[in-house]
Amino acid sequence: LSRMVVAIDGPSGSGKSSVSRGVAARLGLRYLDTGAQYRAMTYWMLQNKIDIADPAAIAADAGAPAIESGTDPAAPAISVDGHDVAVAIREADVTGAVSAVAAVPEVRARLIALQRQIIGIGGIVVEGRDIASVVAPGAGAKIFLTASEDARAARRNTENGGGAGTVAATREALTRRDSVDNRTNALAAASGAMVVDATELTLEQVIDQVARIVIHAA
Ligand code: C5P
Repeated sequence: LSRMVVAIDGPSGSGKSSVSRGVAARLGLRYLDTGAQYRAMTYWMLQNKIDIADPAAIAADAGAPAIESGTDPAAPAISVDGHDVAVAIREADVTGAVSAVAAVPEVRARLIALQRQIIGIGGIVVEGRDIASVVAPGAGAKIFLTASEDARAARRNTENGGGAGTVAATREALTRRDSVDNRTNALAAASGAMVVDATELTLEQVIDQVARIVIHAA
């Protein structure tokens, strides 16, 4: 278990982050949020006024920002050029631009190399979209976490602190991001992945189920 790589992939709002952190904490593993890295890259592009609609401009600067990720599941840290961006990368402007930035091959190549470096000899839960399929195809446990669109929109809406009136808007934004991610960012259950549907489960129940899959695979 101490050298295991646990890949947790899935769409936005599936509860991936809470589940991944919970599983890592319970099993004493490190934790890596690859979505936060794509968000940090996007944050840097916006800060530096790079035209998000211009893939060549994004590609030209994909190597510029220094992105550092912490791996403590109790306190996930992310910085760009030495600045803590954990809060800033969750803002709506970053969320709205991240799929376009993540679709640029130079961005993916750079971040995948960084992710593989952090994964190292293992002992880590890695969450993302393409972990089991691309980043760590040799992962010892592969989980594809999903939930109904309604459940995902409701969860994301609560995270955003929104009232019931904005669930429809949240759902629309989520669906739009999913469709870009599905087309360009490799979101699909990898072969050999265990699909866990969180729609009818509490967070604790999902953590239990995933932890059981990991222990069984170890
Ligand atoms: O998981 P999160 O919602 O923070 O991810 C933000 C975005 O980063 C996703 O919508 C997707 O476009 C991109 N992403 C990716 N590959 C990953 C993780 C995230 O393309 N492994």
